[in-house]
Amino acid sequence: MSPSSSEPAADEELVDRVKEVHRRFPTGVTIVATTVAGRPYGLAVNAFSSLSLEPPLVLACVAATSSTYPRLFEVDAVSVNILAHDQAAVAGAFARSGGDKFEGLEWRPGAGGAPLLAGVSAQLELAVEHRIPAGTHTIFVGRVLAASAGDKAPLLYLGGGFFDGGALRAADLQATTRGDVRGE
Ligand SMILES: Cc1cc2nc3c(=O)[nH]c(=O)nc-3n(C[C@H](O)[C@H](O)[C@H](O)COP(=O)(O)O)c2cc1C
Repeated sequence: MSPSSSEPAADEELVDRVKEVHRRFPTGVTIVATTVAGRPYGLAVNAFSSLSLEPPLVLACVAATSSTYPRLFEVDAVSVNILAHDQAAVAGAFARSGGDKFEGLEWRPGAGGAPLLAGVSAQLELAVEHRIPAGTHTIFVGRVLAASAGDKAPLLYLGGGFFDGGALRAADLQATTRGDVRGE
Protein backbone atom coordinates (compact mmCIF):
# COMPACT_ATOMS: atom_id res chain seq x y z
CA MET A 1 0.00 0.00 0.00
CA SER A 2 1.44 3.40 -0.90
CA PRO A 3 2.14 5.97 1.85
CA SER A 4 -0.38 8.31 0.20
CA SER A 5 -3.18 5.78 0.73
CA SER A 6 -5.90 6.73 3.19
CA GLU A 7 -5.56 3.32 4.91
CA PRO A 8 -2.84 2.99 7.56
CA ALA A 9 0.13 0.82 6.50
CA ALA A 10 -0.43 -1.47 9.48
CA ASP A 11 -3.62 -2.77 7.86
CA GLU A 12 -1.60 -4.48 5.15
CA GLU A 13 0.30 -6.43 7.78
CA LEU A 14 -2.98 -7.35 9.42
CA VAL A 15 -4.36 -8.54 6.07
CA ASP A 16 -1.28 -10.75 5.63
CA ARG A 17 -1.77 -12.21 9.09
CA VAL A 18 -5.49 -12.77 8.42
CA LYS A 19 -4.56 -14.60 5.19
CA GLU A 20 -2.12 -16.75 7.15
CA VAL A 21 -4.88 -17.59 9.63
CA HIS A 22 -7.26 -18.55 6.80
CA ARG A 23 -4.55 -20.82 5.38
CA ARG A 24 -4.77 -22.85 8.59
CA PHE A 25 -8.52 -23.39 8.26
CA PRO A 26 -9.38 -26.43 6.13
CA THR A 27 -12.53 -26.22 4.05
CA GLY A 28 -14.32 -28.15 1.38
CA VAL A 29 -14.59 -26.72 -2.13
CA THR A 30 -17.94 -25.89 -3.67
CA ILE A 31 -19.05 -24.74 -7.08
CA VAL A 32 -21.76 -22.13 -6.60
CA ALA A 33 -23.74 -22.06 -9.83
CA THR A 34 -26.80 -20.61 -11.45
CA THR A 35 -28.44 -20.49 -14.87
CA VAL A 36 -29.45 -17.23 -16.53
CA ALA A 37 -31.29 -17.24 -19.86
CA GLY A 38 -30.37 -20.89 -20.40
CA ARG A 39 -26.63 -20.38 -19.81
CA PRO A 40 -24.84 -21.84 -16.77
CA TYR A 41 -22.49 -19.72 -14.66
CA GLY A 42 -20.45 -20.64 -11.61
CA LEU A 43 -17.32 -20.21 -9.56
CA ALA A 44 -15.26 -22.06 -6.96
CA VAL A 45 -16.26 -21.02 -3.43
CA ASN A 46 -14.92 -22.17 -0.09
CA ALA A 47 -16.62 -19.40 1.90
CA PHE A 48 -19.63 -21.64 2.34
CA SER A 49 -21.31 -22.55 5.62
CA SER A 50 -24.36 -24.10 7.13
CA LEU A 51 -26.45 -21.43 8.85
CA SER A 52 -29.71 -22.88 10.14
CA LEU A 53 -31.47 -26.24 10.12
CA GLU A 54 -35.05 -25.13 10.82
CA PRO A 55 -35.48 -23.56 8.39
CA PRO A 56 -32.59 -25.07 6.45
CA LEU A 57 -30.38 -22.14 5.42
CA VAL A 58 -26.81 -21.98 4.11
CA LEU A 59 -24.59 -19.09 3.10
CA ALA A 60 -21.94 -18.46 0.48
CA CYS A 61 -19.75 -15.35 0.13
CA VAL A 62 -18.93 -14.15 -3.37
CA ALA A 63 -16.59 -11.31 -4.39
CA ALA A 64 -18.16 -8.43 -6.29
CA THR A 65 -15.30 -8.71 -8.80
CA SER A 66 -16.37 -12.21 -9.84
CA SER A 67 -17.93 -12.46 -13.32
CA THR A 68 -20.57 -14.79 -11.84
CA TYR A 69 -21.50 -12.20 -9.18
CA PRO A 70 -24.06 -10.17 -11.20
CA ARG A 71 -25.75 -13.42 -12.29
CA LEU A 72 -26.46 -14.23 -8.65
CA PHE A 73 -28.73 -11.17 -8.52
CA GLU A 74 -30.70 -12.08 -11.65
CA VAL A 75 -32.26 -15.34 -10.45
CA ASP A 76 -32.93 -16.94 -7.06
CA ALA A 77 -32.24 -20.56 -8.04
CA VAL A 78 -28.66 -21.39 -7.09
CA SER A 79 -26.87 -24.71 -6.61
CA VAL A 80 -23.99 -25.56 -4.29
CA ASN A 81 -21.95 -28.49 -5.60
CA ILE A 82 -19.56 -29.92 -3.00
CA LEU A 83 -16.67 -31.29 -5.02
CA ALA A 84 -15.44 -34.86 -4.60
CA HIS A 85 -11.84 -35.86 -3.79
CA ASP A 86 -11.07 -36.52 -7.49
CA GLN A 87 -12.40 -33.15 -8.77
CA ALA A 88 -9.44 -30.82 -8.09
CA ALA A 89 -9.31 -30.08 -11.84
CA VAL A 90 -12.94 -28.94 -11.70
CA ALA A 91 -12.04 -26.63 -8.79
CA GLY A 92 -9.19 -25.22 -10.86
CA ALA A 93 -11.41 -24.65 -13.89
CA PHE A 94 -14.05 -22.82 -11.83
CA ALA A 95 -11.39 -20.71 -10.09
CA ARG A 96 -10.58 -19.11 -13.46
CA SER A 97 -12.63 -16.06 -14.30
CA GLY A 98 -15.13 -16.03 -17.16
CA GLY A 99 -15.53 -18.30 -20.17
CA ASP A 100 -17.70 -21.38 -20.47
CA LYS A 101 -16.51 -23.44 -17.52
CA PHE A 102 -19.23 -26.05 -18.07
CA GLU A 103 -18.02 -27.11 -21.50
CA GLY A 104 -16.99 -30.77 -21.39
CA LEU A 105 -18.51 -31.24 -17.94
CA GLU A 106 -21.44 -33.50 -17.18
CA TRP A 107 -24.27 -31.60 -15.51
CA ARG A 108 -28.05 -31.28 -15.51
CA PRO A 109 -30.41 -28.49 -14.47
CA GLY A 110 -32.02 -28.87 -11.05
CA ALA A 111 -35.72 -28.28 -10.36
CA GLY A 112 -35.19 -24.50 -10.37
CA GLY A 113 -32.78 -24.64 -13.31
CA ALA A 114 -29.47 -24.22 -11.43
CA PRO A 115 -26.69 -26.55 -12.68
CA LEU A 116 -26.08 -29.79 -10.79
CA LEU A 117 -22.62 -31.16 -11.55
CA ALA A 118 -22.08 -34.90 -11.94
CA GLY A 119 -19.57 -36.80 -9.81
CA VAL A 120 -19.73 -34.49 -6.79
CA SER A 121 -19.66 -35.51 -3.14
CA ALA A 122 -22.92 -33.73 -2.28
CA GLN A 123 -25.11 -30.95 -3.58
CA LEU A 124 -27.80 -28.48 -2.59
CA GLU A 125 -30.46 -26.62 -4.52
CA LEU A 126 -31.24 -23.22 -3.04
CA ALA A 127 -33.60 -20.32 -3.34
CA VAL A 128 -31.61 -17.19 -2.44
CA GLU A 129 -33.48 -15.29 0.30
CA HIS A 130 -30.99 -12.61 1.37
CA ARG A 131 -28.12 -10.78 -0.28
CA ILE A 132 -26.08 -9.00 2.38
CA PRO A 133 -23.25 -6.72 1.24
CA ALA A 134 -20.14 -7.09 3.41
CA GLY A 135 -16.80 -5.55 2.48
CA THR A 136 -15.60 -6.75 -0.91
CA HIS A 137 -18.16 -9.58 -0.92
CA THR A 138 -21.87 -10.26 -0.70
CA ILE A 139 -23.21 -12.95 1.61
CA PHE A 140 -25.85 -14.95 -0.25
CA VAL A 141 -28.21 -16.71 2.14
CA GLY A 142 -30.16 -19.51 0.53
CA ARG A 143 -33.01 -21.68 1.68
CA VAL A 144 -32.31 -25.34 0.94
CA LEU A 145 -34.99 -26.81 -1.33
CA ALA A 146 -33.25 -30.11 -2.10
CA ALA A 147 -30.19 -31.85 -0.69
CA SER A 148 -28.34 -34.99 -1.68
CA ALA A 149 -25.14 -36.62 -0.48
CA GLY A 150 -23.39 -39.39 -2.39
CA ASP A 151 -20.71 -41.93 -1.49
CA LYS A 152 -17.67 -39.98 -2.68
CA ALA A 153 -15.33 -38.34 -0.15
CA PRO A 154 -15.01 -34.56 -0.46
CA LEU A 155 -12.15 -32.52 -1.87
CA LEU A 156 -10.43 -30.42 0.81
CA TYR A 157 -8.61 -27.08 0.54
CA LEU A 158 -5.90 -26.14 3.00
CA GLY A 159 -3.00 -23.72 2.81
CA GLY A 160 -3.52 -23.16 -0.91
CA GLY A 161 -3.52 -26.88 -1.79
CA PHE A 162 -6.12 -29.52 -2.54
CA PHE A 163 -6.33 -32.74 -0.52
CA ASP A 164 -8.22 -36.01 -0.64
CA GLY A 165 -10.87 -35.90 2.08
CA GLY A 166 -11.07 -39.69 2.01
CA ALA A 167 -7.45 -40.10 3.11
CA LEU A 168 -7.57 -38.42 6.51
CA ARG A 169 -6.18 -39.79 9.74
CA ALA A 170 -8.56 -39.54 12.71
CA ALA A 171 -7.39 -37.26 15.53
CA ASP A 172 -6.45 -38.80 18.85
CA LEU A 173 -9.31 -37.69 21.10
CA GLN A 174 -7.35 -38.54 24.26
CA ALA A 175 -4.42 -36.18 23.60
CA THR A 176 -6.26 -32.89 24.00
CA THR A 177 -4.45 -29.56 23.86
CA ARG A 178 -5.76 -28.75 27.32
CA GLY A 179 -4.24 -31.91 28.67
CA ASP A 180 -0.92 -31.14 26.99
CA VAL A 181 -0.83 -27.63 28.44
CA ARG A 182 -1.53 -28.91 31.95
CA GLY A 183 1.04 -31.64 31.54
CA GLU A 184 -1.64 -34.25 32.26
C1 LIG B 1 -10.40 -23.19 -3.35
C2 LIG B 1 -10.95 -21.85 -3.81
C3 LIG B 1 -11.90 -21.21 -3.06
C4 LIG B 1 -12.44 -19.99 -3.46
N1 LIG B 1 -13.40 -19.41 -2.69
C5 LIG B 1 -13.97 -18.26 -3.10
C6 LIG B 1 -15.03 -17.70 -2.34
O1 LIG B 1 -15.43 -18.23 -1.31
N2 LIG B 1 -15.61 -16.57 -2.81
C7 LIG B 1 -15.19 -15.96 -3.96
O2 LIG B 1 -15.75 -14.92 -4.34
N3 LIG B 1 -14.16 -16.46 -4.70
C8 LIG B 1 -13.56 -17.61 -4.29
N4 LIG B 1 -12.55 -18.15 -5.02
C9 LIG B 1 -12.06 -17.44 -6.20
C10 LIG B 1 -12.97 -17.60 -7.41
O3 LIG B 1 -13.29 -18.94 -7.68
C11 LIG B 1 -12.24 -16.99 -8.62
O4 LIG B 1 -12.05 -15.61 -8.39
C12 LIG B 1 -12.95 -17.19 -9.95
O5 LIG B 1 -12.09 -16.75 -10.98
C13 LIG B 1 -14.25 -16.43 -10.08
O6 LIG B 1 -14.76 -16.77 -11.34
P1 LIG B 1 -15.73 -15.77 -12.12
O7 LIG B 1 -15.04 -14.44 -12.16
O8 LIG B 1 -15.91 -16.38 -13.50
O9 LIG B 1 -17.02 -15.73 -11.37
C14 LIG B 1 -11.99 -19.38 -4.64
C15 LIG B 1 -10.99 -20.01 -5.41
C16 LIG B 1 -10.48 -21.24 -5.00
C17 LIG B 1 -9.43 -21.93 -5.82
